[in-house]
Amino acid sequence: MPLDAEAKKTLLRKIPHGLFICGVREGDEINGFTASWVTQGSFEPPLVVIAVRAEGSSHGIIERTKTFSINVLRSDQKDLAAVFFKPQKALGGRFETAPFKYGELGLPLLEDSIGGIECQVVQQVSCGDHTVFVAEVKTAVLIKDGESLNLSSTGWSYGG
Ligand SMILES: Cc1cc2nc3c(=O)[nH]c(=O)nc-3n(C[C@H](O)[C@H](O)[C@H](O)COP(=O)(O)O)c2cc1C
Repeated sequence: MPLDAEAKKTLLRKIPHGLFICGVREGDEINGFTASWVTQGSFEPPLVVIAVRAEGSSHGIIERTKTFSINVLRSDQKDLAAVFFKPQKALGGRFETAPFKYGELGLPLLEDSIGGIECQVVQQVSCGDHTVFVAEVKTAVLIKDGESLNLSSTGWSYGG
């Protein structure tokens, strides 16, 4: 039976998602992008799972460096999430409006967010237009706890 494309889209869009800024670094180059396909994958060791668009600029950096950061946005940071999915003049340009520091693993962590984690990739699955990276959480910095930004509150969709 052929896949019912409309039903598939409607149902997959019901999966709840947060909105995060994924940070990457390779030498002097940094980049960041908005990511919603992020979830926890294990308690022990603490694992997260992220799906990264294979054609995006950050994809190769994650494959090569095997590291990335996940910055957890507050519910009032929708505008910042928009900055990080729009095209940029040069790699890393999105960080011009978003001050950051480097974490213990050397990855960009936003100064203004709920907090951020740095992750080390342990496995990757590359069989679609996004690569699924499974990564261990190595560092965690909580800046100020609060309500996080959810995709459903933005009116945007990424999925289906
Ligand atoms: C709401 C929303 C959620 C997104 N979630 C993801 C995601 O989970 N993974 C991903 O690779 N791209 C996601 N994107 C797309 C990237 O943010 C976008 O392709 C970005 O330009 C990639 O940047 P880069 O090419 O500099 O890495 C999302 C976009 C939007 C609008």
